[in-house]
Amino acid sequence: MTIQQDMMNAFTLEQLQEFDRQHHVHPFTDPETLKQAPPFLIDSAEGCYVSGQNIKLLDAMAGLGCVNIGYGRKELAEVASHVMNKLSYYHSFSAVSNPYAAALSAKIADIAPEGMNKIFISNSGSEAVETALKLVSLYWQRKGQPNRQTIITRDYAYHGSTIATAALNGNKEMGSQFGYGSNDHIVHAKAPYWYREGGDMSPDEFGVAAAQSVEQCILDAGPENVAAFIGEPVQGTMGIIVPPQSYWPEVERICRKYDVLIIADEVVSGFGRTGKWFGQEAFGFTADIMTLAKGLSSSYVPVSATVVSDDVASIIEDGSGLLQHGFTTSGHPVTCAVALKNLQLIEHEGMVEAIAVEKGPYLADRLNVALGDHPLVGEIRTSGLMVGIELTKNKATREQYPLELGICNHVSQSALMRGLIVRATGNVVVLCPPFVISNAEIDFVASILLEACNEVYAAIQQV
Ligand SMILES: Cc1ncc(COP(=O)(O)O)c(C=O)c1O
Repeated sequence: MTIQQDMMNAFTLEQLQEFDRQHHVHPFTDPETLKQAPPFLIDSAEGCYVSGQNIKLLDAMAGLGCVNIGYGRKELAEVASHVMNKLSYYHSFSAVSNPYAAALSAKIADIAPEGMNKIFISNSGSEAVETALKLVSLYWQRKGQPNRQTIITRDYAYHGSTIATAALNGNKEMGSQFGYGSNDHIVHAKAPYWYREGGDMSPDEFGVAAAQSVEQCILDAGPENVAAFIGEPVQGTMGIIVPPQSYWPEVERICRKYDVLIIADEVVSGFGRTGKWFGQEAFGFTADIMTLAKGLSSSYVPVSATVVSDDVASIIEDGSGLLQHGFTTSGHPVTCAVALKNLQLIEHEGMVEAIAVEKGPYLADRLNVALGDHPLVGEIRTSGLMVGIELTKNKATREQYPLELGICNHVSQSALMRGLIVRATGNVVVLCPPFVISNAEIDFVASILLEACNEVYAAIQQV
């Protein structure tokens, strides 16, 4: 083995940890954490498991909700190697393309909701969303309504971490920490978060009420100033907020009434995670633009896409000149080829149907049996293989534990000690397992989460 092929053989674990501590700036990390403990080095992964430092963990988060086909599929490595040997790179600016970018664009158009046929390829979810914002702006300029600049987003949203996309997030500190630019044109509507905000309303009543808060935002800004509404079909990063079925059709009706474009941010929900190819199909609406990343390549390589409806494309491509937007690696041959192969595997192995009829219902059932009556658990929300387990102090009143107590972190840490990776988000335990998770692995997830909740609940009782 040479250094280039296996770092674990070239250096000791301690050396690598020291390199990392000295030189690697970690995303979304308090540097203090890395001063207190060395980083945990994961160096291999297979199926639903990641391994490192002689520890093997079942990853019920599929990385960051992205390794949809599971880890270590050789077919993707072979495609990457083949294409990298044949065409390591060429750009796609002007009238140049490559076979893989062309074929991937056609494939996305083929599986996308009807009438969404134009695809812009970038590298990350944030870039896909930022591209959507630019295309929306161009659309309204070319339609002769340049005042339409307001973007309506929602509480608890997550749309990225670039300057423009961070301003769309529910976590406002992400936008304000760095201080660039003005966010005057961004407005937050209510999230369809029935458990926290629904009060005495039924979920469907609350879904309509939450949608009407979008209408209120449009009226407050003046419909003639509103460019678009952006939303994740299921809000993922901030706690798997599964909207009532009444929500999206009402949002769509309102947006159509005021001629406001709809951007569906399908970075997490896209490519089957909800049991449908796209979250729009699961929640009954059609967007004008959708953004895709994560599951597009199962994150084997960084790639994302912004998909535009024929109507929007016809305005943007009306001959008014150059699109002043793009990235060096937009349409990269290797990433496009890997994404294409990933989509073929999902399709040929019937993964989306399996989530809808088998794995999604089995996961929901096992979690409900294990945790439904648990005193620490207020609600278990599921959509396909997206799960949010809302912890509560009081099942009847839905009162939350103060976030400073870190109850949810304790649950996820307890699960980790038992060999299971889940994610703690505020007071919600989040699961987004790989599509290839087996029933036996689902049983393991449910039993470990029960043990973790029991342990944390017992500890709470003692204080
Ligand atoms: C819905 C949604 N949009 C956009 C993003 C940003 O993607 P990236 O981290 O690839 O920039 C994320 C990331 O989690 C996401 O969940």
